[in-house]
Amino acid sequence: MMSEAVPAGRERVLSGIQPTHDSFHLGNYLGAIRQWVELQKTHDAFYCVVDLHALTVEPEPKALRARTLASVAQLIALGLDPEKCTLFIQSHVPAHNQLAWVLECLTGFGEAGRMTQFKDKSQKSGADRTVVGLFTYPILQAADILLYQANKVPVGEDQRQHIELTRDLGQRFNSKFGPTFTIPEGYIIKAAAKINDLQDPTAKMSKSSASQSGVIELMDAPEINTKKIKSAVTDTEREIRFDEKNKAGVSNLLTIYSALTKKSIADSEADFAGKGYGDLKTTVAEVVVDYLKPVRAKALELLQDPAHLNSILKLGAEKADAVATKTLKDAYDAIGIIPRN
Ligand code: TRP
Repeated sequence: MMSEAVPAGRERVLSGIQPTHDSFHLGNYLGAIRQWVELQKTHDAFYCVVDLHALTVEPEPKALRARTLASVAQLIALGLDPEKCTLFIQSHVPAHNQLAWVLECLTGFGEAGRMTQFKDKSQKSGADRTVVGLFTYPILQAADILLYQANKVPVGEDQRQHIELTRDLGQRFNSKFGPTFTIPEGYIIKAAAKINDLQDPTAKMSKSSASQSGVIELMDAPEINTKKIKSAVTDTEREIRFDEKNKAGVSNLLTIYSALTKKSIADSEADFAGKGYGDLKTTVAEVVVDYLKPVRAKALELLQDPAHLNSILKLGAEKADAVATKTLKDAYDAIGIIPRN
């Protein structure tokens, strides 16, 4: 039944991030994680590191372990407060897999096959080298969301179709078996700051880009990020002006500056009036490095204290599990699964 009460009228949000890299990058932070930090102030927020989803890229066990913990540490260092939100590791709550199976039995083969991320990824690797987990990936994601009766799911534009599928599956379940799930709204993050690659400033900053020299990693040493910013591609003019179409590189640097200083683009342009590209790069590098220094230090400190990190994760798993187990029980009851006594 639309049971899961949201405490004190707060809407619930849920989102997840994959632990597929040693470090998040500036685009992850400004494009999504910063909004997560904001939402925990006004919403009942659940955030999970989706280690089960990361299995679809067949990571080395050692890397998966390290990256899962590094992801949690960075999320906290960036401002997620385990006292204000529920931060947990997906695999710590078995109900995710359990509900995913139920939803898989409600999803059409063709319906899953129409997911564009699946189509892109499987076309790139070929059918024989595509794991089934990639096919069912969005259904596990739907389970992540529906289990928590989330009202809103803050995600990037690329996740729109997965949220639509989640809504379809939730509605399908509710109309077949009775109201069980809250139907979530997509909350597509209008990338206040859409950060592009420093070397290829017309493409989104992304870990999958050919070269890492255009990607600002949160966990990299300051010298490395300074060097990357100083080598950013610009153009042959001299004027510092925001013009994404004709001056993608300069505009990207201005966007980074504006996002981190919270100045408007116009004020950011004004800060560089009469200055050259060298000044722009030096200043942006300083702003980025100053911003990331305490973040990196905090993340490293957390990683050096596994007992503390574990206690945070234990608390998160307990809070998440309580909600998820209840929803799973309702869903099982609704479909006619006999409860174990
Ligand atoms: N697929 C999402 C991404 O790549 C990650 C994700 C997994 C997620 N489960 C989720 C996002 C649940 C929001 C809600 O970004």
